[in-house]
Amino acid sequence: MLRCVVRAFGPAVDVVATECYDPPRPGPGEVSVRMLLASVNPSDLVTISGAYASRTTLPFVPGFEGVGVVEATGAGVSEVAAGQRVLPLGTAGAWQQVKVAEARWCLPVLPRLTDEQAATSYVNPLTALLMSRQYVIPGGGAGTAGAAGVVVNAAASAIGRMAIRMLNRAGVEPVALVRHPRGREQLTGLRTAAVLCTSDDGVREALPAVVREAAGGRPPTVVLDAVGGSEGGDLARALAPGGTLVHYGLLSGRPLPPALATERPDVRVVLFRLRDWVHTADRARLTDALAEAQHLVADGTAATPVAHVLPLRDVREALRREAVPGRTGKVLLRAD
Ligand SMILES: NC(=O)c1ccc[n+]([C@@H]2O[C@H](COP(=O)([O-])OP(=O)(O)OC[C@H]3O[C@@H](n4cnc5c(N)ncnc54)[C@H](OP(=O)(O)O)[C@@H]3O)[C@@H](O)[C@H]2O)c1
Repeated sequence: MLRCVVRAFGPAVDVVATECYDPPRPGPGEVSVRMLLASVNPSDLVTISGAYASRTTLPFVPGFEGVGVVEATGAGVSEVAAGQRVLPLGTAGAWQQVKVAEARWCLPVLPRLTDEQAATSYVNPLTALLMSRQYVIPGGGAGTAGAAGVVVNAAASAIGRMAIRMLNRAGVEPVALVRHPRGREQLTGLRTAAVLCTSDDGVREALPAVVREAAGGRPPTVVLDAVGGSEGGDLARALAPGGTLVHYGLLSGRPLPPALATERPDVRVVLFRLRDWVHTADRARLTDALAEAQHLVADGTAATPVAHVLPLRDVREALRREAVPGRTGKVLLRAD
């Protein structure tokens, strides 16, 4: 069998290798999952870089998201059966041909999802669903934060687009920020109060004022921030008194400015990490939320465009393609 392996932290394209291995037999409570497809996500690349070195033991097999079929079950397994298509969650290891996982972490896949949809039905769909529910549309009510009261940055990212579609379903039209003019095209068909391009003249320098103007002259009440750094800081500065910055990504590679806490003590900064939610939610809540996310994948709301599907043995090429700016969809790894 073939798997990807990381033996030293660093840039993924340099440190991810492939190797042959003999998968162990599943022990009590475990199953062997024959992987079909796995996603390449920013969270995989950040983990491989060593950003979470304190909780990552080397060597390891990367991949937090992927779909496979249960091949064999260990003693005492009743949650899943051989032949069932599942998402083996809770640990990394999707970038290999056979993942031995705890049966209780193997969640079922909605039958009508294709393998590509299933392989991208967890990390971003569930995060976008939980964030929009918890911070923008409490109780699922329409437009709680106001039609122009929400800002989404990195709006052309896979999760940015699905978050906007989820907000649109609740009647919310956010101000969307993209970093390149081509990002505007990727938002075609989505309803927004405005699309701002941070590389346009004058936008970045006066971001708080530009965002407020785009929101109809009113300061926004919620920002979904996947960028961090000075952009995240300026979006926090644009918020209405008591507003919320949901900080869930670090695409700039830089943390939010520490001065923010003293400059805008009224702003609530929430650090959202799917991992924390998944590892603390009870099983019924996790199963229900994932099922809901998968329905949103099936109806297109949480759909992920796929740009490239490459076999595991070409993982370095897959990682090169992942790093291309303006990529139009996810890169997936096929476990053959
Ligand atoms: N906290 C959580 O639990 C959680 C869960 C899911 C996702 N996330 C985070 O959400 C972010 C997006 O994930 P994804 O899977 O949707 O990514 P993605 O679409 O696969 O790739 C990121 C996209 O964001 C754009 N981008 C990169 N750097 C940017 C910057 N500085 N400013 C604006 N846009 C930038 C790029 O688009 P262009 O090249 O076209 O500009 C790139 O294609 C990541 O930071 C990820 O870690 C967090």
